[in-house]
Amino acid sequence: MLNPAEYIKQHIRTVENWPQEGVMFRDITPLLQNPKVFRVLIDMFVHRYMDEKLDVVAGLDARGFIIGSVLAYELNLGFVPIRKKGKLPFHTVSEQYELEYGSATVELHSDACKKGDRVVLIDDLIATGGTMMAGKKLLERLGATVVEGAVIVDLPELGGSKIIQDSGLPLFTVCNFD
Ligand code: PRP
Ligand code: ADE
Repeated sequence: MLNPAEYIKQHIRTVENWPQEGVMFRDITPLLQNPKVFRVLIDMFVHRYMDEKLDVVAGLDARGFIIGSVLAYELNLGFVPIRKKGKLPFHTVSEQYELEYGSATVELHSDACKKGDRVVLIDDLIATGGTMMAGKKLLERLGATVVEGAVIVDLPELGGSKIIQDSGLPLFTVCNFD
């Protein structure tokens, strides 16, 4: 019997040279497609946060929305999306950051959380860490405390998880790929 993290890892597919030459894309869609594995994943996150005093679950565009919104529902909390530039209709705060392939800007509605809110920040994967660091900065600009970042996959060789932890943000990762 595999442990839950190994079971989850076995359902992540690697697509070589996508979206560009040299990138090994870690694709979580097989995991999401399998109801048993998806449940194991969500249960792991729910158990981790069910006794934390949290106010909000925040999810990073786009795959952080899938996991984060289910987690928020299970924890009886609201969900706030941190979106790629130009998608949110109301007043926003924004942060630019560098990616493994390119650069991007993320935005958050300025009323997405209140000063003092305790937030867990969810995504599918950490590569260079730019996306999660930008999300953390946005939440902190609104006065929230980011209690932990959580992802399914860490790519430790790209250094992002170290940057995040060195910034003082605790990070929960289910599995990693070299
Ligand atoms: C991927 C992934 C994370 C981010 C991690 O999303 O889902 O959000 O990259 O990379 P980083 O640690 O180097 O910032 P991507 O930017 O490819 O966008 P998508 O969700 O629109 O596919
Ligand atoms: N985002 C940045 N790098 C990635 C990778 N290798 N696989 C999936 N998403 C990513």
